[in-house]
Amino acid sequence: MEQKNFKRTLITTALPYANGPVHIGHLAGVYVPADIYARFLRLRGEDVVMIGGSDEHGVPITIKARKEGVTPQDIVDRYHAIIKDSFEELGISFDIYSRTTSDIHSATASEFFRHLYDHGQFIEKTSMQLYDEEAHQFLADRYVTGECPNCHQPGAYGDQCEKCGSSLNATDLINPRSAITGAVPVMRETRHWYLPLDRWQSHLEHWILDGHKEWKSNVYGQCKSWLDLGLQPRAVSRDLDWGVPVPVEGADGKVLYVWFDAPIGYISNTKELLPDSWQTWWKDPETRIINFIGKDNIVFHCIVFPAMLSAYGDGFQLPDNVPANEFLNLEGDKISTSRNWAVWLHEYLRDFEGKQDVLRYVLTANAPETKDNDFTWRDFQARNNSELVAILGNFVNRAMVLTHKYFDGVVPPVTTLEEVDRELIAEIARLKEEMTAALETFHFREALRLAMDMARAGNKYLQETEPWKVVKTDIDRTGTILNIALQTCANLSIAFAPFLPFMSEKLLRMLGGTTITWDMLGCFDLIPAGARIKPAELLFEKIDDDAIQAQIDRLARIKEENQKAAWKPEPQAPDLDFDTFMKADLRVGTVLECERVPKADKLLRFLIDDGMSRRTIVSGIAKHYDPADLVGKQVVFIANLPPRRLKGIESQGMILSAENPDGSLVVISPSAPAAPGAQVK
Ligand code: MF3
Ligand code: ZN
Repeated sequence: MEQKNFKRTLITTALPYANGPVHIGHLAGVYVPADIYARFLRLRGEDVVMIGGSDEHGVPITIKARKEGVTPQDIVDRYHAIIKDSFEELGISFDIYSRTTSDIHSATASEFFRHLYDHGQFIEKTSMQLYDEEAHQFLADRYVTGECPNCHQPGAYGDQCEKCGSSLNATDLINPRSAITGAVPVMRETRHWYLPLDRWQSHLEHWILDGHKEWKSNVYGQCKSWLDLGLQPRAVSRDLDWGVPVPVEGADGKVLYVWFDAPIGYISNTKELLPDSWQTWWKDPETRIINFIGKDNIVFHCIVFPAMLSAYGDGFQLPDNVPANEFLNLEGDKISTSRNWAVWLHEYLRDFEGKQDVLRYVLTANAPETKDNDFTWRDFQARNNSELVAILGNFVNRAMVLTHKYFDGVVPPVTTLEEVDRELIAEIARLKEEMTAALETFHFREALRLAMDMARAGNKYLQETEPWKVVKTDIDRTGTILNIALQTCANLSIAFAPFLPFMSEKLLRMLGGTTITWDMLGCFDLIPAGARIKPAELLFEKIDDDAIQAQIDRLARIKEENQKAAWKPEPQAPDLDFDTFMKADLRVGTVLECERVPKADKLLRFLIDDGMSRRTIVSGIAKHYDPADLVGKQVVFIANLPPRRLKGIESQGMILSAENPDGSLVVISPSAPAAPGAQVK
């Protein structure tokens, strides 16, 4: 990688839509990695600001407001507060977390547009757009759904297909429908401003394809395929009533497209934080800008926003890197705000109080850095119990407890270093080098694994040196071993500081330390001999099966609700001729006996009084009934089917039951008592 000399780093994190709380997918993709990076740079003493905020415009917000019968402002006020508070509690160390409904943002976005407009950076075009005649509204972006012209998935949005990821124009959708009224839209003429991306084609090609070959391959690859297709002008205004008004005469009823105003939010929020020096962070070539985003945001951050910044000119710098992650799935299914298929951060913080670092750990250890990944509650539990508790927590606890036991909590001095001591010291130094390289290149999973390797090395050291045995014969040597072990603990508090800030601080406090820097990592004189350490407290506790089962049960309930909500009756079967139907002999029977069929968990054996004699019928409804409850009930069965053997029992007919959306079966009974053997007509 080309090494430039930068004086400071501006870190931005994609602004989440304030139409719902944030979930583990947002965290794993953007906020946890950005926070790790920011904390790492700060530990190195670098000048850093980390900018965040809510994206409060856009159609998803107005759709939600309409559904709930409240204003869009109500929606964003509600979710902005939840998002901001939960980020803070998780320790995402924003220097500012603001919002795009702020005054400073509308002024900044408005000025940005006006500047481009005044400098001839837009083209104006009249075109035919989809219009909902019932709602009296143009159908921009998510206000319209239809079949994707590329992958033919139904339910694609007017701006994007979530299935194949392609970005769309509403007018490309096949069979479009209004998301407001369900109406079939008509075409109506409207006038908009377009950013001619084609003018920036070669500029962007040079900047990305030649200049940033070090970008992650998913990011570089997506940019390349966009550029290879040839860039087209893109509309940057919309006919909507929620957003930053277009600051041009005669643009009533038109607002800036949300993807035009939102990235300007990074600038507005920097201005809000640093009213006097914000320009240094955006316009000085010695500032390095890093945009942390999810993979669905790549084109906006690598093509559109850079074209906007270039069109503005005036020294605006383009990002040095755009580390985008892939997606995190939940228990095998795509995370979805609308289907409530997510682990919501604010709910996690409520259910797992004080366990912020556990979530940060699991999301990093399992981060979707190079491919989509899956979050499962079992994996969450296993990583807590067998990594955080059993490796990291265990090592620190042993080192501290033994120091209290043999030295009354006073750090013993080192007398002479032996080979095994030097090996550990060298191992920590080596791991530090690797960690630093991994962190610098955004390989946070790898960096975390290396930090855990330090704790593993510590455990191995205690296993090999056995201070609990040595103490019986050689107190000086025992002191040396525990000194080295405590220095290793101090190293762990530094190595984990970017990842597990709460644990790191607690550990540092227990060791009696105060400040740490990345430079100190690898040193073995971090806690002076003679210093007193605090009592050993547990850094992590086991998470039991009940807590995990409660989460798994919650997801199962949601899955069931979703299935119910999505259920539609089967389409009607092809026509049947009357005579064929008349051949079926349907009868009422009374259940005389009913019992489970051994070794068949689905089957019940019935003995039925059919009016003529008794017949045995085997039916696959054992999961849905207690057999005792069916005795004495009346059922309807098909009497004239050929007999079938099921688990060695001859079944003489078929009992009719109805299948519900959740897969449960209910037996069909006459609504009033009927004579056994009565024909069903
Ligand atoms: N709100 C967008 C999303 O959640 C991200 C906006 S990033 C910004 O996908 F740069 F536009 F702010
Ligand atoms: Zn598609």
